[in-house]
Amino acid sequence: MGLNIKRLQRALPQKVIDRLDPYIEAADLVTEMRDPRVLRALGPSATRGMVLKRGKQGVPTRIPANHSAHFDWSYPHDHPEMRELYRRAKQHQWDGETQLPWETSVEPLDPDSAVIPDDFFDFEKLETYGIRLDRIEKARFRHSMGAWTLSQFLHGEQGALLAAAQVTEAVPFFDGKLYGATQVMDEARHVEVFHRYIDEKLEKLYQINDNLFVIIDALMSDSRWDMKFLGMQIMVEGLALGAFGALYKMSKEPLLRELLRYVIQDEARHVHYGVLALRDHIKLALSESERREREDWSFEVALLMKNRFMAYEVYDEWFSGMITRAQWRDVMNHSPGMEEFRQVMFSRLVPNLREIGLLSKRIQGHYDRVGLMKYFHGAAAPELTGDAMIAELDAELWEHRGRKRKKGRTTAA
Ligand SMILES: [Fe+2]
Ligand SMILES: [Fe+2]
Repeated sequence: MGLNIKRLQRALPQKVIDRLDPYIEAADLVTEMRDPRVLRALGPSATRGMVLKRGKQGVPTRIPANHSAHFDWSYPHDHPEMRELYRRAKQHQWDGETQLPWETSVEPLDPDSAVIPDDFFDFEKLETYGIRLDRIEKARFRHSMGAWTLSQFLHGEQGALLAAAQVTEAVPFFDGKLYGATQVMDEARHVEVFHRYIDEKLEKLYQINDNLFVIIDALMSDSRWDMKFLGMQIMVEGLALGAFGALYKMSKEPLLRELLRYVIQDEARHVHYGVLALRDHIKLALSESERREREDWSFEVALLMKNRFMAYEVYDEWFSGMITRAQWRDVMNHSPGMEEFRQVMFSRLVPNLREIGLLSKRIQGHYDRVGLMKYFHGAAAPELTGDAMIAELDAELWEHRGRKRKKGRTTAA
């Protein structure tokens, strides 16, 4: 199939190839799934997201849900660690309206208060494809990338809000239901603060990225509670936690950094909850074949996030018709900011997959092939509190700024 598509691509004008590119990507995604059960679980969502573009067809988007609500009239204390998380979550509630410095003036075109820093993007790489932006255009472009990134965070948070509600219904642990209710509240607050930031400070909202839609669609419509957990609490939350951390490190804008600091503390609990719920379930309750299916599924979703989260919505706005989608991917892949995102995201996700038993020897070769095994030995969520995470990010930030200052001095000398 790959060969025929390549031959077809050579025969077609560039404009047509760019039109076909999203469909070719969808076909590539589906053909690379080796496990037919993963194809059955993700295939329909890939069609709805990447081919029919359901996330971009106006409101509302209806995703059918068919899980069972799990009641327990005996109200057992069945999971002490979840009970402890519930206690911590109650104590750490915060109010996004009164506790964040909304009076901060954010000037998106000013490099000192921009969401995305100067060195996020590789403008030199763009120039090799014949596009040279002046200073003002670069600032406007950075604003677009910042608004796109935060828009995807917001859409992901809406997914988390609805998924947390589903998970609260479906989870078999009673202590998990109580904890889950706090997560629903947390996610509502995240939707509130990200939306307010985009609306008041950036004044620009992008549509949901097709790949993010595929993942949300897949986990919302899957009837198995553990697949919802795996999709939302481990994959989306794990990657989001990394992405929030990367932006917290990169951005100089004080309101956004404060907002992210609060959100990261909540998200650390959410991922911790996902690991607790899945660790024993995967090791003790699932057959080897069911475990393998989940292992393959998470690998495909990790790839979906690693290779395909390419800000095509920004490309369509800025460079469609000027460079090809393949050239845009090349520019994005070379951007230091995207590399930083990938680093922090996967250093958070991979240790959690190990912790819940979804990184057996069988799949490690595949992770190695795509360069993700280097994160294997990192700390998993139960060993890392939100405070520890922020302290780690701050320490890395100071080290990075120190290196930059030193480099500046050497260059000046
Ligand atoms: Fe969230
Ligand atoms: Fe969350």
